[in-house]
Amino acid sequence: MQMGKDAPLLLRTALGEKVERPPVWMMRQAGRYMKIYRDLRDKYPSFRERSENPELSYEISMQPFHAFKPDGVILFSDILTPLPGMGINFEIVESKGPLIENPIRTFDQVKNLKKLIPSESLSFVGDVLTSLRKDIENKSTLLGFVGAPWTLAAYVVEGKSSKNYSIIKSMAFREPDLLHNLLDHFAESIGEYLKYQVESGAQIVQIFDSWAGQLSPQDYDIFAGPYQKKVIDIVKKEYPDTPIILYISGSAGVIERMARTGVDIISLDWTVDIGDASERIPNNIGIQGNIDPGILFGNADSIKNRIDETFSKASGRKYILNLGHGILPGTPEENAKIFFEYGKSLHY
Ligand code: CP3
Repeated sequence: MQMGKDAPLLLRTALGEKVERPPVWMMRQAGRYMKIYRDLRDKYPSFRERSENPELSYEISMQPFHAFKPDGVILFSDILTPLPGMGINFEIVESKGPLIENPIRTFDQVKNLKKLIPSESLSFVGDVLTSLRKDIENKSTLLGFVGAPWTLAAYVVEGKSSKNYSIIKSMAFREPDLLHNLLDHFAESIGEYLKYQVESGAQIVQIFDSWAGQLSPQDYDIFAGPYQKKVIDIVKKEYPDTPIILYISGSAGVIERMARTGVDIISLDWTVDIGDASERIPNNIGIQGNIDPGILFGNADSIKNRIDETFSKASGRKYILNLGHGILPGTPEENAKIFFEYGKSLHY
């Protein structure tokens, strides 16, 4: 699909057009490192409210756009946001992270999960995406996102963030059919949810399988890869031209496998050299990220040098400048600004 000249840079890059510079955005670019976000959080302490009230979600999504003019605007939401629509309640507790009300551990619980109907349970997401798309015009590209089945399952089975994933691994190795039923339910619902995001205005979508790097490659091929692919196939069947990005934390051992899911762009963490990764990823697939979020605790020179080094090693590839994971709380805002501004001064 050839886009018009005024299509935004990130979208043109993702679609494989020759561009003048790499686009730049940041995972978790809206959030706690910004004072304006912390002030709003003091007023609205519930994460669920901030992410499910359309006015608040819209306002927070736009905070980094107003501050830094990134090439991508990502919906302010969470990978867990679709869960209540499937009958799983959750909250996010300050300094503890996500908590699932009744962790899913039995066949009965999986059988009773509701099929997600995004236009009903997630209409607020549709509203926010539609408003964002209208208001950012062609100045930036609008991104939607979801969590992949394995990572969602890790939360709903463990019940919270986990260190060693012993409960879901116990399920994987003792009751694999139970886990497959859950993963399959998520794959179908999440595929529908992504399509709904595209229909509502998302121009690119990113799939976060953040905890798939916890699996050995042989288990990745059973519990993560096939369900990533199922989500991707559902979206591509109706929207073959919508670029899809896949992110996994700790992906160095499964990069070739990520490339085989049908995804358009692989988002790398920082534990792999981007030059090495580039040789392991077919040329038609783009690369995003790779910069250690910790670099933003350094100074202007260290940030600029790392961007230069990463960009030069990625050259010759379709590349999107981004971090290797979300920007960390406590990052100085002026360093985020340097990242965006210096990133936008690069050119091919
Ligand atoms: O990128 C963006 O700006 C969009 C916002 C976004 C959030 N969560 C907002 C959020 C995105 C893309 C996510 C995705 C997400 N959520 C992932 C995948 C990305 C990744 O980091 O690997 C995961 C694993 C989650 C689950 C989750 N939600 C965690 C681990 C946490 C942090 C818990 C904590 O307190 O540190 C959340 C809560 C959350 N989601 C916050 C934000 C800004 C922090 C809570 C707050 O602001 O009060």
